[in-house]
Amino acid sequence: MTETTIRSVVVTGGAGFIGSTFARLLVERGYEQVRVFDKLTYAGNPANIDDLRSCPGFSFVQGDICNRDDVERACEGFDAIVNFAAETHVDRSLMDPGEFITTDVYGVFVLLEVVRERGLKRFVHVSTDEVYGQVSDGSWVETDPLAPRNPYSASKAGGELMLGAYVATHGVPALISRGSNTYGPYQYPEKFLPLAATNVLDGQPIPVYGDGLQVRDWLHADDHAAAIELLLCKGTVGEIYNIAGSNERRNIDIARIILDELDVPEDMLKHVTDRKGHDRRYSMDCTKITKLGWAPSVDFESGLRETIRWYRDHREWWEPLKSGEFGEYYRRNYGGREVVEA
Ligand code: NAD
Ligand code: TYD
Repeated sequence: MTETTIRSVVVTGGAGFIGSTFARLLVERGYEQVRVFDKLTYAGNPANIDDLRSCPGFSFVQGDICNRDDVERACEGFDAIVNFAAETHVDRSLMDPGEFITTDVYGVFVLLEVVRERGLKRFVHVSTDEVYGQVSDGSWVETDPLAPRNPYSASKAGGELMLGAYVATHGVPALISRGSNTYGPYQYPEKFLPLAATNVLDGQPIPVYGDGLQVRDWLHADDHAAAIELLLCKGTVGEIYNIAGSNERRNIDIARIILDELDVPEDMLKHVTDRKGHDRRYSMDCTKITKLGWAPSVDFESGLRETIRWYRDHREWWEPLKSGEFGEYYRRNYGGREVVEA
């Protein structure tokens, strides 16, 4: 274990879902300077960090991780970068993969270059369980091979490999976290949970891909953020750490809890044409980060129900997101899908 004192952090992608949760955690924990650096793509939302703007030591800079000048300027005088910036939605990666390769691979390379040249103390790169690909039995450990099966996860794997190369060749002080499916407030409503909850709240059905028996391991955003903060201070350079909630659930069961919490009947659930190359199950072993002292603290069922109620009570947050660009995306992704037998 290597412990480093980090007082100032640039949170790239910090106007997104998990990045904003992480930036809030750093502010609450008294970091001297917390800077959100974000391109504000369709998924980046200034409203996610509104509450932080007046906090001492907090700043926001709009910029692109693929633009070296932007990154260099934003990191001047900071100890560390934690990188959440990415294109993140599998369905979009099936339709338009180009931007995924640009941000999730080239963007990570730019960040690594800046960390190397400017001599930053730490770079934590936030990755995903999806780089392992699907697993039918058992759980992946950090040394298992990468076998991504869609353009999103392949791009994330590419970014990870570049990081490994910079650690080995230039000794860049970088490490990787691999988180599982994350849920909580402020998640862009293209992802399954907020999409399903907000659809129901709008009187629309939940589109369940295929038989709905695919399994994801759900992790609350607060627990995900706390794990990454632990790695920032206590993680070992060059290492990879799995982070999961140990809440493996079938999609259909998540959908049923949403129906139950919002008190709507089962016929609001529609099985539709499956996602291409849909990974059946993700599962990771988290022994390694547990040994550093992390454990998830949010009880799954109550965390999930509380999250559903948050979307119910925050229409002003998600309604603007479901208009404009989102409508076009929704038609492209869901318009051609047929209702299928479960
Ligand atoms: P998100 O889509 O909500 O947010 C991504 C953020 O990155 C947005 O604010 C966006 O504006 C910003 N961004 C995109 N391209 C950028 C660029 N070129 N330069 C600067 N900013 C850019 O994503 P999220 O769900 O919060 O995920 C954050 C990270 O965590 C991602 O790296 C993702 O791969 C990883 N992750 C997510 C999950 C999950 O379930 N959501 C699980 C494991 C890992
Ligand atoms: P998603 O939130 O897109 O995350 P990921 O694909 O990264 O796991 O999807 C979670 C699960 O829900 C995944 O198995 C796909 C499924 N899903 C649906 O059944 N319907 C949908 O409309 C969406 C967006 C996802």
